[in-house]
Amino acid sequence: MLVQTSRSGDSDVDARLQEFAELAASAGASVVARVLARVDKPNARFLLGTGKVEELRELKIASEADLILVNHALSPVQERNLEKYCECRVIGRTGLILDIFALRARSHEGKLQVELAQLKHMATRAVRGWSGLDSQRGGSIGLRGPGETKLELDRRYLRGRIQLLQERLDKAAQQREQTRRSRVRNAVPLVALVGYTNAGKSTLFNRLSGAGVYAADQLFATLDPTLRRIDGLPCGPFVLADTVGFIRDLPHDLVAAFQSTLSETRDADLLLHVIDAGDPERDQRMADVATVLAEIGAADVPQVQVFNKIDTIDGAQPRRDDVDGGQQPRVWISAAQDTGIDLLRNAIVDQIGRDSVRVALYVSPAQGRLRARLYEAGVVADENAAEDGGWELALDAPRERLNSLFGLSGGDGSYLREVLGAVLAPFHSDV
Ligand code: GTP
Repeated sequence: MLVQTSRSGDSDVDARLQEFAELAASAGASVVARVLARVDKPNARFLLGTGKVEELRELKIASEADLILVNHALSPVQERNLEKYCECRVIGRTGLILDIFALRARSHEGKLQVELAQLKHMATRAVRGWSGLDSQRGGSIGLRGPGETKLELDRRYLRGRIQLLQERLDKAAQQREQTRRSRVRNAVPLVALVGYTNAGKSTLFNRLSGAGVYAADQLFATLDPTLRRIDGLPCGPFVLADTVGFIRDLPHDLVAAFQSTLSETRDADLLLHVIDAGDPERDQRMADVATVLAEIGAADVPQVQVFNKIDTIDGAQPRRDDVDGGQQPRVWISAAQDTGIDLLRNAIVDQIGRDSVRVALYVSPAQGRLRARLYEAGVVADENAAEDGGWELALDAPRERLNSLFGLSGGDGSYLREVLGAVLAPFHSDV
């Protein structure tokens, strides 16, 4: 059973309820009843007014619901009182989102983050559940240290577990930082897919990377960023990250818990903002994503807006509009039907290849390892065999990246000439 709250003057209650119903379905709940409740002045005991709580109780009995989901943050006290009065479990918005996150977490780090957020959320609530039961539970022989109550033991267990998770997360964050450093050292740009949940990010990720990442018609199929290296485009290689789907009103403690996961977004060189073009709530959802991006400090990262699912709009064709003189291209595609993907690839190349240069490089027969390294770095655009058994290579990459590949700071090629005995000659500076 769903409870949607509103305040006087709210105009989008239906859309919020619809979004909440999708969240509930995504957690595996089947909705048997929906209730709208005006909350202009939240009631400290129940959140809702007492008349509404009575209505809830009756509807719960009539619909045989065994769970009440409230689309609002609930204090532990309000949750407990509602549970007692309605005689069934009651979960607020944060609890529901945590539950979904727990179902969807895939990486080690994501799982740790969810468990930590859940324990912290539980910690305040658990205490109230146990406090009245101390005397009965206190008898659990073997569970009790000298002079300790079960409650203290449980609290201590929670604290210990939270600390352990925190330590593991710190370690995972260090590993993530190392990976990031190596990417930055090799100057491989990072392109992150962002967007409202269910917009089609994972489908597009697969389309662009050819990988078989799980795409499901449910919210939050992707909780953790998944990284793939993309080669073969004129801008040189880049890393593509699929990130957690955003939702409206992501609770603040969750944003904090997922900071490191979301750091992929903040550190990105380019964001592909995937939008469900056929969604009636499209503009609102774009605004919601912009809000979350601002919250995590990613508002200034350059963006390509990707209007996906054009197959759901009558007569829509793939196209590209260059808004703001090409600063923020909009590309209309269908990831599922594989249309418009080339337009999108071109837009990505234009954005991250802005400062790309093409250079010619002669590699002598003795420098096979250098040639292999350049291929591995994905910067070789063309190659011709030279008469002496060496190779004439054409390299395509941003100047920065060539510099870092060859350990140059100025980029004048002297390092190459002197140390590698190779010839570096820029022959044009635009891709
Ligand atoms: P989250 O992980 O929840 O953030 O979702 P997501 O943005 O990664 O979406 P996902 O790729 O899982 O796609 C969600 C649903 O939309 C799936 O059922 C896809 O098959 C469907 N979908 C993706 N792209 C298209 C498209 O171009 N057209 C249509 N009609 N459906 C699409």
